[in-house]
Amino acid sequence: MCGIVGYIGKKNTKQILIDGLKELEYRGYDSAGIALLEGEKLEVYKAVGKIKNLEEKVLCNQICPAKDGTFSLGIGHTRWATHGKPTELNAHPHLGVYSYVVHNGIIENYKELKEELTNAGHNFVSQTDTEVIVHLFEYYFNQSNDAKLSFHQTIERLEGAYSILLITKSMPDSIFFMKHGSPLAIAKGNDDGEIYFASSDAPLIGLAHDVVYLEDGISGIASIDNLEFSDEVKWSILPSSKLFAQKDGFRFFMEKEIYEQKDVVVDTMMGRLKDNAIEFDELPPHILDGINEIKICACGTSFHAGLTASYLFERLTKIRCSVEIASEFRYKEPLLSKDTLFIVISQSGETADTLEALKMAKNGGLKSIAVCNVDNSSMTRVADATVLLRAGIEKGVASTKAFSTQTVVLWMMALYFGKIKGSIDNKKLQDELKTLKAVPNSLKVENSLHEKCRRLSKRYLHGHGFFFIGRDVFYPLALEGALKLKEISYLHAEGYPAGEMKHGPIALADPELFTIALMPQHLHYDKIKSNVEELSARDSTICAISPLPFELSDDFILTKETNHYMLEFFEMLVVLQLFSMEISVRLGNDVDMPRNLAKSVTVE
Ligand code: F6R
Repeated sequence: MCGIVGYIGKKNTKQILIDGLKELEYRGYDSAGIALLEGEKLEVYKAVGKIKNLEEKVLCNQICPAKDGTFSLGIGHTRWATHGKPTELNAHPHLGVYSYVVHNGIIENYKELKEELTNAGHNFVSQTDTEVIVHLFEYYFNQSNDAKLSFHQTIERLEGAYSILLITKSMPDSIFFMKHGSPLAIAKGNDDGEIYFASSDAPLIGLAHDVVYLEDGISGIASIDNLEFSDEVKWSILPSSKLFAQKDGFRFFMEKEIYEQKDVVVDTMMGRLKDNAIEFDELPPHILDGINEIKICACGTSFHAGLTASYLFERLTKIRCSVEIASEFRYKEPLLSKDTLFIVISQSGETADTLEALKMAKNGGLKSIAVCNVDNSSMTRVADATVLLRAGIEKGVASTKAFSTQTVVLWMMALYFGKIKGSIDNKKLQDELKTLKAVPNSLKVENSLHEKCRRLSKRYLHGHGFFFIGRDVFYPLALEGALKLKEISYLHAEGYPAGEMKHGPIALADPELFTIALMPQHLHYDKIKSNVEELSARDSTICAISPLPFELSDDFILTKETNHYMLEFFEMLVVLQLFSMEISVRLGNDVDMPRNLAKSVTVE
């Protein structure tokens, strides 16, 4: 997830920006840059990779070494690639002719704006959506010679979610800012007149005391000793712990990542989900030509997202779809045929087994797509095309937001392919688009729901194991629920298709065997109900998750009434994640770094 910093004051601006960017490293990034302004003097530094690469460039500059501290203001950025590769050219700040901008978020209408500005004679050098902002500003300024008005006109034209800082020689003592969607905080420094900007508290702690967390739609202009906002703002006191700030006040990164799912899926959909269509600019137009089968390959949680997608692909595209665990696929001497589209799913893009499976498919001449969270990772470099999740860095070892964004992306791809193949009509597509737009609401963590999971967790700390059961897409969700629980609680848990219990596993049923039953209203409710009744008759302890009351369960978690099983899916996902986390907390385990596990599995 990108990070922004800015500074106005009398201290060493270069050093403050670099230090600020280091504090934002936890958000994940693949390139970084700063721009500095003092009167007519404008300087910029950019580097791919770690901040220390940028720091080396800044410090090596002999004309203006960092210690001179001559710049009165500057802006900086860490970039997590979404539009265009992580290169220096694509790194922020982006230059017009006399202005620089840094931006966090996505400009949805950048293509239209770019075309308009290109026709007006503006020259673009990067592949990013951000560059249009600075050109738009200069386009207006060239007409009016009024920087304030031009900034206002610029933000009026932008669609999407964004936070922006802009500096310009045309008003060299000021930083323009705007927040709409992505976070931005402004703080008054401890020294006179100083102003700091940052995407989160971490860079501000120790340097400032009072802070404003901008609300959406607030813009303004800052100079030393002067701060103007477009509307009223509320000042608060900065927290004092950096780690607390990095976790946005949550106890664990996993908890933060569960809570931010509702926001990151908005980024996942942005620019791809249009008013009445789905578009994937990153996929070649004739991707389905000659394709009769889809094969998905992944590991762990990503495999569960793949299994979920296999139901959606077959249902919506009418193309045969199979899913394989990458470590199995590699050694089974698989039959590869060129009419198969090969999709790998991976948060990290580095998982050794999935990467090798992808290489095998490539060598076999198959078309391939990587659904991945990390641009420029090994898989994105091997695959023919990449669809990025845009989930931001995932720090908790137990994957949460990667799974929700993977599922959203794959569901959208199923609809996109369905439309190309003509297997879904426009009415169906419009209904599904409406449902997709409701996903953030289903992923929202209600206080009452979290509290219910916390209270229930104390009843499930013993016993000889858990069964998570579900049908259809709720079967992979059951697998995912069981995996989350075993990873961080170290309790034995298995996911099963509910209809399969009677073929063996039901022999284990007794009061010390806990069954977590996923009972959606809109997908085979009666079938799963009778499966759960069979377990209840054998005295298994049952926790049912459903929008419909179910009397035979020992515990019950009520989910919202919706009109689509995928909305139930996402709400139940949140329940399962919170439930596992609260059990792990009660057991005193390390939630973010469970024993024996690594975030990226780069060995076989
Ligand atoms: C579970 C988890 C793992 C990963 C698996 C694949 O919480 O994180 O099961 O899903 O190691 O990793 P990626 O998605 O990076 O290929």
